[in-house]
Amino acid sequence: MSHVFYRKLGVQPPEIVRAQGIYLYDERGHRYLDACGGAMVVSIGHGVKEIGAAMAAQTASVAYVNGTAFTTPPVEALADFLAAKAPAGVDRAYFLGSGSEAVEAALKLARQYHVERGDMERTIVIARTPGYHGNTLLALSASARAHYRAVYSPWLVDVRMIDAPYPYRAESPDSPAMTGEALETAILEAGPENVAAFIAEPIGGSSTGASVPVPAYYARVREICDRYGVLFIADEVLTGAGRTGTFFALEHFKDAAGKPVVPDIVTLGKGLNGGYAPLSALLANGRLVETLARGRFGGLVHAQTYSHHAVSCAAALAVMKYMERNDLVKRARDSGAYLQRALRALLDEPTVARVVGDVRGIGMLAAVEFVEERETKRPFAREAKFVEHIVARGRENGLVLWPNVGHADGHNGDLVLIAPPYIIERAQIDELVEKLRVTIKDVVEKHFAGPASPAPRKTAEVKS
Ligand SMILES: Cc1ncc(COP(=O)(O)O)c(C=O)c1O
Repeated sequence: MSHVFYRKLGVQPPEIVRAQGIYLYDERGHRYLDACGGAMVVSIGHGVKEIGAAMAAQTASVAYVNGTAFTTPPVEALADFLAAKAPAGVDRAYFLGSGSEAVEAALKLARQYHVERGDMERTIVIARTPGYHGNTLLALSASARAHYRAVYSPWLVDVRMIDAPYPYRAESPDSPAMTGEALETAILEAGPENVAAFIAEPIGGSSTGASVPVPAYYARVREICDRYGVLFIADEVLTGAGRTGTFFALEHFKDAAGKPVVPDIVTLGKGLNGGYAPLSALLANGRLVETLARGRFGGLVHAQTYSHHAVSCAAALAVMKYMERNDLVKRARDSGAYLQRALRALLDEPTVARVVGDVRGIGMLAAVEFVEERETKRPFAREAKFVEHIVARGRENGLVLWPNVGHADGHNGDLVLIAPPYIIERAQIDELVEKLRVTIKDVVEKHFAGPASPAPRKTAEVKS
């Protein structure tokens, strides 16, 4: 018996003893193609030696000082790097460990900014469904993930939800969810003077499976937020640091004059550290930080022992340097276009195409959404565990995939995210797609060959 309290109980996970490039190797010598970079984390590939060297050097010079009293060279250098990448004005970086922590801090910053300005009533946060921002309680409150929320719903705060832009399942291309109008309606319903912030993943992560909003969406969001004094938080924990082929996913969206859409706060995580050390960041507009500097508390009221960690920042800085030197954001864009095209080949094989409702994405972020009936987009009943079969079979076939469930109606829905390290070669993309094709075919033939089952039921969130 292992003494590890595993994340999934009842199954013994394979032990990975080596990882290189896009491949993982377990203790029995089995090789897995890491098609999702763990949890859409691994950006520059596994096993890049210079990252370890940078961490070792930092550990040897200074591993830890507390962020309230001191700063360190990698913290300064990483903040400079990110400020240079971020839209004009978004130039202050606050470092934390995980994406959830960055989201918690971003939401708190929004609230504190309003309080410091005497706007005490601004407490309401608006987020989107489907959507995901993390698993600590405030981040979970802003996340429309019924199965993560069910047990804890009595502890969650009220975050207002609007429908996310989700082209595959949208009522129409110009529905309020698709254009951004839904945000204005929600702000007016809440009373604009009560709304603190709107938080959104610029391009859907696992929740809407790599769904890309229409080009004008975020200019509209910015305009609405400005009109009502609401802060716009772009949660780029998953999409940031190059995943979609630009450093920030928000760069894909411009206003009518072709100017970038500038958020008030951006969160980063996964790709920033590439999996080498836990490190997330909140980037804030200087205006917000100056307001806090003049305010009652002299800083963000968010004390965490390991914020601004020197070794974690050294790791992320080394990842960023490696990414720059090897032009990996461009590679994510170019090879990503190849990946998106290659995945469409899944639709060529009838057995596979029968259950593939949609293939979509941008750059190195793609999704395959599965449906029981293509014409009506009817999802499989959750009880059928379609995507669980896919992930299990994929692993047997040496392919690691990231599942998501519940996006179709809050309960049903099955998709896999494909988000490999940006360094993946074209031949390896072909290998990935072939393994995926075989995996889907295996699952359909073994478990879903019979006639379609009755329409699945919708199950509401557990309430206290
Ligand atoms: C958009 C987004 N925000 C926040 C988080 C939470 O990050 P973490 O799991 O590192 O706490 C995630 C994780 O998947 C995410 O995709």
